[in-house]
Amino acid sequence: MPHSWLGAAGALLILAAPTAAAQQLDQLRGPAPLVDEAAPPRMAPVENRDLRRARNYPEQPPTIPHKIEGYQIDLNANRCLACHSRAATGESQAPMVSITHFMDRDGQFLAAVSPRRYFCNQCHVPQHEVEPVVGNDFVDIDTILTREAEQQN
Ligand code: HEC
Ligand code: HEC
Repeated sequence: MPHSWLGAAGALLILAAPTAAAQQLDQLRGPAPLVDEAAPPRMAPVENRDLRRARNYPEQPPTIPHKIEGYQIDLNANRCLACHSRAATGESQAPMVSITHFMDRDGQFLAAVSPRRYFCNQCHVPQHEVEPVVGNDFVDIDTILTREAEQQN
């Protein structure tokens, strides 16, 4: 079996032209040959400075600016809501879950957080303190609007 695997991988490598992105992605694996096991990078610390990040667009789920290691989210308990629920924010001083989290799929507001918003880290994720492996040329909408306004003048 290992031989056919290597064969398939080899064919893929020949077929795929090495684009800039692919070369950059290669850094995930590093220069280790395919048959060798690459040394895993050290685990990076999680961003935990309690500073909220700006969102890249209004509908973006904000990233989690604090550690969540060991926080239980299951049928019995939701650690996130212990701070982020409407009732808890007075004590925790955490931002309340957004009003959209009370809406069902038909846009009706429920009395409690909607089941489809219960598993918070389906959408919200903490960030690691690492240099991005792949470049990113995302341009913010405000920048685009400013550019357009300048062009019209
Ligand atoms: C002990 C209380 C506490 C718990 C538990 C907690 N948070 Fe937070 N969270 C906060 C506070 C306080 C902030 C405000 C920024 C800060 O101080 O880190 C915050 C900020 C956030 C933000 C950023 C909001 C924004 O507008 O930028 C998100 C998203 C978030 N938390 C998600 C979660 C999720 C998901 C969990 C569970 C996995 C969780 N939090 C558990 C207290 C908590
Ligand atoms: C299906 C995706 C999804 C899930 C699941 C989800 N969120 Fe969100 N969350 C979002 C999006 C998108 C936004 C930003 C737009 C908005 O407010 O709806 C947001 C916004 C927030 C904010 C910022 C609110 C504000 O007014 O600044 C907090 C805090 C938050 N969510 C916490 C949570 C917690 C805690 C849970 C779990 C109980 C959760 N979210 C589950 C998608 C999600």
